[in-house]
Amino acid sequence: MNNIAFIGSFPSANLCPNDERPEYAFIGRSNVGKSSFINTLSNRNALARVSKQPGKTQSINFFLVDESWFLVDLPGYGYAKVSKKMRAEWDYMVKTYLRTRTTISCIFQLVDISVPHQENDIEFINWLGACGLPFILILTKADKAKEPEVLKNMEGLKLALGNYWDELPRMVLTSANTKLGREEVLEIISKANEAFANY
Ligand code: GTP
Ligand code: MG
Repeated sequence: MNNIAFIGSFPSANLCPNDERPEYAFIGRSNVGKSSFINTLSNRNALARVSKQPGKTQSINFFLVDESWFLVDLPGYGYAKVSKKMRAEWDYMVKTYLRTRTTISCIFQLVDISVPHQENDIEFINWLGACGLPFILILTKADKAKEPEVLKNMEGLKLALGNYWDELPRMVLTSANTKLGREEVLEIISKANEAFANY
């Protein structure tokens, strides 16, 4: 990855750029580390806006990498302090974007692995599955808990998913702080870009 540029913030799926290049969307609970991981991937500190305060990212943000593919930062779900109406709007914006965008090559579903998973994580993962959308799980904040804790949380997540999935989704353990998992995710993107070009 040599060059990355912020393209714009879009309030709804139908206003996103008309473009044929593949894109990679980042979804997950508010505060899970979506914006941080985009910064880690791109080796930039403040490209995508990060905050301790949940609910930082509020629209669909496009970043163009090497003129050839997009990283898309999305607002997170499950932020308790927003109104019912705002949550419904979020749900509509994000799910419409994910369902209708034909150029999505892969969705990165982030789950905070420093704490036990939450029910809304399982629900969202199952929604992706029900829609037949391609995704992998990015387990974030691996540096934030001790290893046995991380392993326990991973087991818990696998167990919960096992109730619904015959074959578990691919998972990558990551940290925005130590850059763990960065190379693996870049490799996944690179392979997916090739597959997308041949499709
Ligand atoms: P929203 O935009 O609100 O949905 O949040 P987000 O998912 O984009 O999270 P963001 O990247 O803003 O990070 C939330 C908080 O978690 C910030 O305080 C980050 O510094 C912290 N954080 C993110 N990734 C990591 C990580 O790998 N390790 C640790 N220790 N903290 C992290
Ligand atoms: Mg964000």
